[in-house]
Amino acid sequence: MSTGVRATLFGTSRVEPVTAVNAVRWAAERLRPHRGDAARLEATYLVAGCLGLGLSEVGLRPDRALEDREWEELQRRVERRLAGEPLQYIEGRAAFREFSLKVDRRVLVPRPETEVLVEHVLAWAAGRHDLVALDVGTGCGAIALSLVLEGPFERVVAVDISRAALNVAEESARAAGCVSRIEFRHGSLFDPVRPGERFDAIVSNPPYLAWHERANLAPEVREWEPAEALFAGPTGLEVLEVLTAGASRYLTPRGLLALEVAPGQARIVAERLARDARYVRVQIRQDLAGLDRVVLAEQDDVGD
Ligand SMILES: C[S@@+](CC[C@H](N)C(=O)[O-])C[C@H]1O[C@@H](n2cnc3c(N)ncnc32)[C@H](O)[C@@H]1O
Repeated sequence: MSTGVRATLFGTSRVEPVTAVNAVRWAAERLRPHRGDAARLEATYLVAGCLGLGLSEVGLRPDRALEDREWEELQRRVERRLAGEPLQYIEGRAAFREFSLKVDRRVLVPRPETEVLVEHVLAWAAGRHDLVALDVGTGCGAIALSLVLEGPFERVVAVDISRAALNVAEESARAAGCVSRIEFRHGSLFDPVRPGERFDAIVSNPPYLAWHERANLAPEVREWEPAEALFAGPTGLEVLEVLTAGASRYLTPRGLLALEVAPGQARIVAERLARDARYVRVQIRQDLAGLDRVVLAEQDDVGD
């Protein structure tokens, strides 16, 4: 983009550099018809990403001039956003708890509900030592990284059916300096677990949508996030059923099973666990919106 075009964009005959504040204004105007009230915040986020600044720093440096390559990059990112791509994929990063994780189309964007799941696992783990966890369906590695970085987890085995997702998660673990404590294994659910292996905690945010729910999803989710991260099968409960039926075999006595579920599934999953004599202390916990979202259970004292 030449400086002359810049002048046209900002409605002035003078050739002048694009500043951070002007760039935000321009991007917000482009986004507003599609993004409404969110346009200005999204514009600030995109400008911050192009300039390598934090969100709040953009406002503190309104006169920061964009270099040509930054301006070109901003225009590309605005076009991607207008095409519906999630902001986190455009940025290549997603915030999760206190971390910034690598994300792209190979993985689901981690959600605040999963931060709540992690919070419950960390609360259970407090006061214990040298724990080993299994994260089933690790995706971008949000759960696995949080457990080794925030809790008394010495090691996490992180499983995913998507090799591409494992590569993304491994990159984040390497960047966070914890790659030696997370073992990435490719395969379906418990298949990659080795004979005789036992875990103090099995944690999973599995796919839990039913196929027919696809039409109701926001286009941003439906068109961009990986289908294998979202859909479990005809009812949505298919993966949760395998996890609840199988986890006991891989838990240590008094080990924790912690599952993220859709709100309408919590009671079904909890009842299933409560009927199974191998599990005790079955609980349902709510997310930040007050919806049933997490199901917790402990293996009994004996184990499977
Ligand atoms: C809802 S995403 C969760 C990702 C990440 N744990 C998070 O919370 O953001 C579900 C993940 O499970 C993986 N997955 C789906 N089916 C699987 C299976 N049968 N075995 C292992 N992983 C599976 C998907 O590839 C995806 O990465």
